[in-house]
Amino acid sequence: MSERTLVLVKPDGVRRGVVGEVISRIERKGLKLVALELQHLSRETAEAHYAEHVERPFFGELVEFITSAPLVAMVVEGPNAIKAFRQLAGATNPVEAATGSIRGDFALEIGENIVHGSDSPDSAAREIKIFFPELG
Ligand code: CMP
Repeated sequence: MSERTLVLVKPDGVRRGVVGEVISRIERKGLKLVALELQHLSRETAEAHYAEHVERPFFGELVEFITSAPLVAMVVEGPNAIKAFRQLAGATNPVEAATGSIRGDFALEIGENIVHGSDSPDSAAREIKIFFPELG
């Protein structure tokens, strides 16, 4: 069964010039792009996207960072797309992410870990609506 997930190449990934690399890995895996857009998030959109982290000590820093520069938002589709992309991304903390994964290959710090991928079908539906209301 096909499903959709929201993928972000966060401002650090855009700045580092790895947007093409991330897209290439998604395509090589066999997943399909359904939507793709460069977006510079407002504080309001960033807070909505990361609402589940509002109580965390790093929330302010997270919102500051994600709104600091443009990111690339995508909707990616395919069988098990949510888990498949999270496997491509690797562990949230780049120093724990396997070499060969996006974070394992391109990042060093948890706050600048290049990509975001939805973690469940409910999160995917909620996040896709935030970034691509026309697909919701
Ligand atoms: P992401 O998948 O975008 O979802 C939440 C983000 O919070 C996560 O990736 C990390 O970039 C960030 N994050 C998680 N833990 C920390 C932390 N301890 N300090 C700073 N940022 C964090």
